[in-house]
Amino acid sequence: MSRYRTHFTTELGPDLVGQRVRVAGWVARRRDHGGIAFLDIRDGKGIVQVVVDPARLPQVDDLRMEYTVTIEGEVTARPEGTVNPDLVTGEIEVQASHLEILSPSEPLPFMLDDRTDIDERLRLQYRYLDLRRPRMAANLRARSRATAAIRRALDDLGFLEVETPTLIRSTPEGARDMLVPSRLRQGSFYALPQSPQLFKQLLMIAGVERYFQIARCYRDEDFRADRQVEFTQLDLEGSFWEAEDVQAAIEAALVAATRELRGVEIPTPFPRLSWHEAMERYGTDKPDIRFGMEIVDLSDIFASTEFGVFASALANGGTIRGINAGQRTLSRAEADALVERAKQLGGKGLVWMQVEADGSLRSPVAKFLSETEATGLKERLGAVAGDVLLIAADRWKTALEVLGGLRNDLGRPKNHDELAFLWVTDFPMFEEDDDGTLTFSHHPFTMPQDVEAMQRSPQTALAHAYDVVLNGVELGSGSIRIHDPETQQKVFDILGIDRESAERRFGWFLEALRYGTPPHGGFAFGIDRLVMVLQNEASIREVMPFPKTQTGVDPLTSAPAPVDEAQLVELGIQLRPEVAAALAQAEAQAGE
Ligand code: AMO
Ligand code: AMP
Repeated sequence: MSRYRTHFTTELGPDLVGQRVRVAGWVARRRDHGGIAFLDIRDGKGIVQVVVDPARLPQVDDLRMEYTVTIEGEVTARPEGTVNPDLVTGEIEVQASHLEILSPSEPLPFMLDDRTDIDERLRLQYRYLDLRRPRMAANLRARSRATAAIRRALDDLGFLEVETPTLIRSTPEGARDMLVPSRLRQGSFYALPQSPQLFKQLLMIAGVERYFQIARCYRDEDFRADRQVEFTQLDLEGSFWEAEDVQAAIEAALVAATRELRGVEIPTPFPRLSWHEAMERYGTDKPDIRFGMEIVDLSDIFASTEFGVFASALANGGTIRGINAGQRTLSRAEADALVERAKQLGGKGLVWMQVEADGSLRSPVAKFLSETEATGLKERLGAVAGDVLLIAADRWKTALEVLGGLRNDLGRPKNHDELAFLWVTDFPMFEEDDDGTLTFSHHPFTMPQDVEAMQRSPQTALAHAYDVVLNGVELGSGSIRIHDPETQQKVFDILGIDRESAERRFGWFLEALRYGTPPHGGFAFGIDRLVMVLQNEASIREVMPFPKTQTGVDPLTSAPAPVDEAQLVELGIQLRPEVAAALAQAEAQAGE
């Protein structure tokens, strides 16, 4: 018999009744009934109930929550009426004959069950305790199973798993780089990769043909619920490939992970929507297609309207779009909140209408509408009594984004467990900043669909770029890449990167493109986001073992932290005087 255990808890079942076993783990719960102690012993797999008679094993009285123990005893069937169907081991219990305390635990900073609502900072400060909670332990296991399933699927398809460096030369991918100073070359810095993008392209040039990696990426971005400074991608690339090949490989990986975690078989190919159609129908490039409430064009109905807001939107080349938000009763306050939300989403306002029982429209703007307009509007939106209609008049993109945002706020999927994977294809090459400058919308190595058309009209040029979306969450992005230096320079030209600075910044990469580069393409999806959705979590932090807070801090280790002066000297770095002064002041305050 092994020193600590013969079985994991979940291996104990009715087939072992009468056998002596040994389990090891933590005391998750203790109840006392009629002088007998009932312990829930938790290990890495689950929980089993152990029955201890203090008369026989008096050390049970020293046991507190989360002590580690090893216990030997006989497996018995639970008495009639005490079977616990919620527990894998719910039909049996262990009658303890030996009990050894292996290590004690301090009183806990919070209860380790799933019912309590604990401050997230505290959870992260004691993450090693938080991860003992059943839900978090299940998330860790799910993540491991998902990555294992993805590895198996890609291995079966002949992919090579290749590691790329994490101390690299900075590459442009949109976010700010995290930098690492070099001691041996003072004044020089490595960048941490925002993704393995250029290295996987080098691997294609190297003849690898089918590459993947579970890759850690680093981006110094401002935080949002689904973003972290470091995160994990399934990164993939293939040579002599077209978009369909990339998509088939990604579908295989996603189907495998979903089968593993949800036990369902997602049909392939996933549905596809062009970016333009996604915007037109859903007002976003990552639509949740589990519910309708689609956006419709109302511009023609209001072509000669008397209502000033609509008339001027059309006169300025804008559009009028609407959604039928379905059966609901809008109070004045709710209506005002919707208008406020529309403004938050970038709109100038919002028209709301409540369809009354007699078919008339209750709305602040009803009096401006002609009979024909009211009828046309109701017909176009399929409105019936009790529906609420929302209308935005604005520039194309603004009107759609406002309604897309409201649609997401108001829409509810009929079936919450449904998984709606979707490809969004044919993204624009470039996005226009507020000041009119163009930036790449995917990354600057993405192949335009038509190089000449791109040079004539960059604003409307489309890319061989696509995203995969799951239930309204952008899981990942990819593209066919540029494989000749001339096209690459044409894209740089539009981005305002001239030959000289391109040579200086990515000369090493442009040179590599000159040595027989195969046509290639690839994709990356966020493992964190995938597991988050599959595990029904609202934040990627719930599926990351040691995430950082919204402000980029790790409350457990207090990273990031100042370093010793000696370390800075070695690196040839001196803090700016105002930064050094602020640090010294903070230190003095902490010392008080
Ligand atoms: P992209 O930048 O779109 O593409 O990233 C791909 C996916 O990575 C995840 N992701 C993140 N997850 C958590 N926190 C973040 N800060 C974060 N940033 C990105 C998302 C996203 O969809 N090299 C290209 C891929 C390619 O073209 O092959 C790339 O990185 O799920
Ligand atoms: P105003 O003329 O700004 O008082 O707006 C009159 C009504 O039209 C108000 O209900 C506004 O919320 C609404 N409105 C204003 N701008 C827009 C817009 N761009 N799209 C839709 N409704 C708007």
